Amino acid sequence: AKFTMVDKDTCIACGACGDTAPDIFGYDDEGLADAILDDNKGITEIVGELAEDLLDAEEGCPTESIKVAEEPFHSTVTSK
Ligand code: F3S
Repeated sequence: AKFTMVDKDTCIACGACGDTAPDIFGYDDEGLADAILDDNKGITEIVGELAEDLLDAEEGCPTESIKVAEEPFHSTVTSK
């Protein structure tokens, strides 16, 4: 499984990710990308064809702002 979120500090609102993976990425009022499935929290599992779109979007982002991981980015469990 894959999880994703956008690093809004480095996103330059280029728009490539929403073109590549419109079911995963949208944009906020400033045009910065958001992972729309979970409010950019990186906690929704992305599977199947969407996971392939995700990897394409990750590769296509000019600023490497699309973060992808095998584990959720935020857990409800607080770690020490
Ligand atoms: Fe931003 Fe990269 Fe998407 S710069 S708009 S996260 S392709």
